[in-house]
Amino acid sequence: MKPPIWKSTSIAASLMLSMAVSMPAGAAAPSDWSVISTENVKLFYPGQSSFQWLRSPEHKRAHRKTLQGDSCVSCHEGEEEEIGQVIVSGERLEPHPIEGKQAVIDLAVQAAHDSDNLYLRFQWKTRNPFPGTAHPHWRFDGKEWKAMGWPRLHKKVWDEGQPAIYEDRLSVMVDDGSVPMFAEQGCWLSCHDGMRDMPDLAETADVKAHPLLGKVLKKKDVRKYLPASRSDDDATWNMTKSVEEIAQIKAAGGFVGLMQWRGHRSRPIGMADDGYVLQYRLTDAGKNVFSKNWDKAAKRPKYMFDEKKVGFKSRTMEQIRDTSQPSSIISEENAVAFDPNAGWKEGDMIPEYYTSRTGAKGSAADNQEVKGTWKDGIWTVLWTRKLNTGHPEDDKIMKVGGVYTVGFAVHDDNITTRGHHVSWPITVGIGTEAEIQAVTLK
Ligand code: HEC
Repeated sequence: MKPPIWKSTSIAASLMLSMAVSMPAGAAAPSDWSVISTENVKLFYPGQSSFQWLRSPEHKRAHRKTLQGDSCVSCHEGEEEEIGQVIVSGERLEPHPIEGKQAVIDLAVQAAHDSDNLYLRFQWKTRNPFPGTAHPHWRFDGKEWKAMGWPRLHKKVWDEGQPAIYEDRLSVMVDDGSVPMFAEQGCWLSCHDGMRDMPDLAETADVKAHPLLGKVLKKKDVRKYLPASRSDDDATWNMTKSVEEIAQIKAAGGFVGLMQWRGHRSRPIGMADDGYVLQYRLTDAGKNVFSKNWDKAAKRPKYMFDEKKVGFKSRTMEQIRDTSQPSSIISEENAVAFDPNAGWKEGDMIPEYYTSRTGAKGSAADNQEVKGTWKDGIWTVLWTRKLNTGHPEDDKIMKVGGVYTVGFAVHDDNITTRGHHVSWPITVGIGTEAEIQAVTLK
């Protein structure tokens, strides 16, 4: 096995990292990030390279090694651009190529820590000359409120010409060595046939009728899961283990943490969400940072913007990307209860979700300090994560001196599900040697 690419390209950087950076007492996030070295992580477009595809003969001459647990980079080191290109072009693994989609995105990552927190700084260039802060809305058609705006891989967009509207996202998946093969194969363990926008999409009726996914979890689709939660070698979506077996795996730490910073649904409150993946992609215990803005019984939004505070009750298609105005409903800041008699006109639009810092609770509210700003085509996200969140039941607890495996993903340009750019698994060391070494703040 060749040494990881990051080692060879960043000798100078790691030398610098081995020296602790001086910071004022009562350390907080670094005030000067320019003294902390940057790792450039190449994210590439993965198309439909699922767990099952990787273990099929379609994955030429490699499926057996992949099955045995060989690492992706043992064969693919430095091939991000090449693989990304083959996939965005539609040559392989991508039934709906998107015009102009980048093969790769360069994600600049900087890391530091003190005794309480890990501090991460991310930067990447967006494809669009505007930030992805808009998200699907409810649109009044003169009679009813109907969904408007979909992610680019949705049939309504690629087939029916409907507008692509979706938030930008930065995701971090993390493991502490408890999940078999995560260090070698990272996020690909969680990506399966049957999921949304993947081959052999599971039928809604079948998911709803499924004893665990439908009846216990109340889900209608299949999202990320780990092979350990399934009983067959191929980790088929519907072959779930029992609730008791899954609970045991979870208690032993056999899940991965998955945190997502979201341009529309968490950025405005300075947070990221906090979830985990085991039998499904789930939110940590407590209350999530965003909720559906929908009154099911009355079939209309729950909240509208507070006109007294922001000067408008709703938006129009032309206004949803106006970054000089709030684009998200924040329940404690700019929202009031929806008024059905407010003189609604055709084309009025209200976000499908609202977000809330004060409403977020428990382990789901652990990412309290995540600040995203977009300037000159670049997102900068500053992320503070407690090393010990106090919630070991659904978080990966980190320690000074520990090394963790992470996978990064960016959703760019109005897209969700597999339409992201992803990294190979990478190690992060908390003040210790790793592909990304968090500098010790003193
Ligand atoms: C034993 C070596 C080996 C391992 C391990 C391996 N691959 Fe591959 N992979 C290959 C080969 C060979 C191809 C075919 C390349 C071609 O046809 O030009 C390939 C093709 C691919 C492709 C399709 C793009 C292309 O260039 O054809 C993707 C995506 C991919 N691999 C992802 C992965 C991921 C993700 C992992 C880890 C879970 C992985 N591979 C592990 C050798 C490997």
